[in-house]
Amino acid sequence: MNYYIKTYGCQMNVHESEKIANILVELGYQECTDMSTADIIVFNTCCIRGTAEDKIKAHIGEVKHIKKANPNLIVAVCGCMSQQEGVAQSLLNRFPFINIVLGTTNLHLLKERIAQVKNSKRYANTDYCHHAELESYRTSTPNGWVNIIYGCNNYCTYCIVPHVRGREQSRQEDNIVDEVTQLLENGYKEITLLGQNVNSYGKDLNDGSSFAGLLNRLAELPYRYRLRFITSHPKDLSDEVIDAIARHDNICKSIHLPVQSGSTDILRRMNRRYTREDYIALVDRIRASIPNVGITSDIMVGFPNETEQDFFDTLDLVNRVRFSSLFCFIYSRRKGTPAYSMDNQVSIEVKRDRIKRLITTQNIITNQVSQEYHGKVYEILVEDRNDKYDNTYCGRTDCGRLVNFGCDTDLIGQFVNVRIRKSASATLWGDLVMDG
Ligand code: 5AD
Ligand code: SF4
Repeated sequence: MNYYIKTYGCQMNVHESEKIANILVELGYQECTDMSTADIIVFNTCCIRGTAEDKIKAHIGEVKHIKKANPNLIVAVCGCMSQQEGVAQSLLNRFPFINIVLGTTNLHLLKERIAQVKNSKRYANTDYCHHAELESYRTSTPNGWVNIIYGCNNYCTYCIVPHVRGREQSRQEDNIVDEVTQLLENGYKEITLLGQNVNSYGKDLNDGSSFAGLLNRLAELPYRYRLRFITSHPKDLSDEVIDAIARHDNICKSIHLPVQSGSTDILRRMNRRYTREDYIALVDRIRASIPNVGITSDIMVGFPNETEQDFFDTLDLVNRVRFSSLFCFIYSRRKGTPAYSMDNQVSIEVKRDRIKRLITTQNIITNQVSQEYHGKVYEILVEDRNDKYDNTYCGRTDCGRLVNFGCDTDLIGQFVNVRIRKSASATLWGDLVMDG
């Protein structure tokens, strides 16, 4: 029996697909790469922007002919899209071949539902549950993903995430430490802690747990490894966390710190709870404490009421802060969020024009920042082969830069030194530096 999982969206979903895979492997399924040979297809969905949802619905529609050829095929849809109000039912109505719909906190039901589907019923479960501790079927060595907190309490006015992922739920610190220790025992060399807002970790546990405390405890585990985390909300990044990163060599000097806009007025309308000046001061504090830190960010253009002046403020912030890379998005209206019904929505033409200008501005900076690496030696964790070129491997620097280099032997999972020779946009190219 074969399984095929199609994953959309963020790293949280990539990791959740590892949990889905584990359930399927325990049931005796094996992964296949051709959807048409699958006995079960799982869509692990995202709904952060309308474009993501449209694409997913089109892909689900394509399964119709596979089901025709194989009436025993089981089709399941889970993740953020299915958790939106009314969507589970509308998916079942629109796609009669879907057997199972599960919300973001219902994955633990998958095993039972698969057994029940065999009696030809259809199921939808989207009631919020406490997150179960589920095992993962991992294929991402040398990097392991570890959830530390689920959900988000921030309610930024554009964002659907708190509506589909629910309130913040931190995992018990001991469970996290046990999972990380197990991964390190099994040879993993990099751990990425995951949460919509990792800086809120522990607040809901009321037992003194905090993100800084967790970082310190994990960084002191007696293994040679690197620790990363995503994502940080600027309003919650504490001095204790900055200290923890600065103090431990094995905590990567890389912070993803979404700013969203460079205009204080737009930030207020977004309910981000910091100003443009707060953000710039925070970046200055981080850079003063952590030399060579790589700061990356997310920005969206075309939020309701965004004027040309607001957009200039965003470009100005980008030029001042000089992110090492930037994810740029067009604001997408999400039903059920406050911004959906705000006046002065921005036209798609203006949004497209602004995102182009934003990308052009950042590209110049990315190239300049990349050139600063030329001629210097960096420690890289070798992650994978670069399939486009012969005898070429890739990995990341501590500050998150992707580096390609040539090598005859498979060094995946090892730390090596590479001297940077050239760059193409955010990607660096270099040569192995042998010890001694
Ligand atoms: N439209 C466009 N981008 C969005 N994001 C979140 N919600 C929306 C939306 N409605 C972006 C934010 C966030 C990233 C993960 O996705 O920039 O940081
Ligand atoms: Fe969405 Fe804001 Fe929460 Fe991030 S912090 S998930 S943007 S509500």
